[in-house]
Amino acid sequence: MTNEEIVALAKKGRELSYSPYSHFAVGAVVITKDGKIFLGANIENASYPLCMCAERNAIYHAYMNGYSKEDLQVLGLVADTEDVCTPCGACRQVISELFPSDGKIIMANMKGKMKETSIKELLPFAFDCSDLQ
Ligand code: THU
Repeated sequence: MTNEEIVALAKKGRELSYSPYSHFAVGAVVITKDGKIFLGANIENASYPLCMCAERNAIYHAYMNGYSKEDLQVLGLVADTEDVCTPCGACRQVISELFPSDGKIIMANMKGKMKETSIKELLPFAFDCSDLQ
């Protein structure tokens, strides 16, 4: 799948955003190694801290369908930002636990700008289960 096709799927996720408070719609997609597609969007709440980001919803969507870390291949996200939309800190921590360290991450905006990265690059020196030993 091309990066353009990945972003097109993330845009489909974005159409499902529930963001009446921020008016900032974010879309995401997780693609598994066996080709399954799981969309995500940000879902907000009047109790603001309960808002959930698009990236986490897409990853949880994949897990709720029986997939886990090593099954996942691609994470795409998109929002109407000037530069590409990058995952927030909380999402980086969740991605680092639930998405492969070398999995492809495509960050995009609505105007067609795209950047490819990995969670290793987005969250070096991550806190993980080894720190709890
Ligand atoms: N948001 C995401 O969905 N992903 C990010 O990486 C950044 C922020 C959402 C959360 C909230 O619904 C809105 O964008 C404004 O922060």
